[in-house]
Amino acid sequence: MCLCSLTGVCRPVPCYACCCAPSFPRAVSAVSVVSVSSPIGMKFFDRRSLEIARQLLRRYPKEWAQGATLPLLDLAQRQQGNFVPQAALREIADMTKSTIARVRATASQYEYIRLSDSGSPFRVCTSWMCEEKGAQALRKHAQREAKRLDVHINIESASCLGGCHHAPVLWFQDRLYENMSCSDVAVVLKEEKVEEEAEEKESD
Ligand code: FES
Repeated sequence: MCLCSLTGVCRPVPCYACCCAPSFPRAVSAVSVVSVSSPIGMKFFDRRSLEIARQLLRRYPKEWAQGATLPLLDLAQRQQGNFVPQAALREIADMTKSTIARVRATASQYEYIRLSDSGSPFRVCTSWMCEEKGAQALRKHAQREAKRLDVHINIESASCLGGCHHAPVLWFQDRLYENMSCSDVAVVLKEEKVEEEAEEKESD
């Protein structure tokens, strides 16, 4: 089992620096890399993501291509928004010469990787320091506000997010919010609501 899933150290963003990305001689990586199919063969990844996927795969020798599974899952989730769709699992399996079942199994090891669209993760740290500073009240307030404003987010508890000295903290949309109060949470959620409405208008 991956060290990240045991320790939670990499959460909420995987570091890829432990057993997921074993070190290997540069000479090996230079001569034996996995190639990625052309964009014509890919239905999920767009051109930009495919270019990043190529760069990721270049870090691994052909026989260790499956080591790129986690960064590719992360890439797919960033492109999609909140989760990794089935089409992406298939393409990642193809890129890493693996199977969809194996890719799915890797994804299931990480809370951070989602396989269904349950809303943007809104992660409130409930570890000791944040708990002492009112994390539970913050979480409950976020739930009430999210319901009232009808924003598409998924509120969840997180283990230490590394901001203990500015507790309580939360993680939302790739950003760490520190020293949060209930009124700060309300502001963040209102901004999210405005963005959601703007996106809806754009797509109409
Ligand atoms: S305990 Fe909350 S960030 Fe460390």
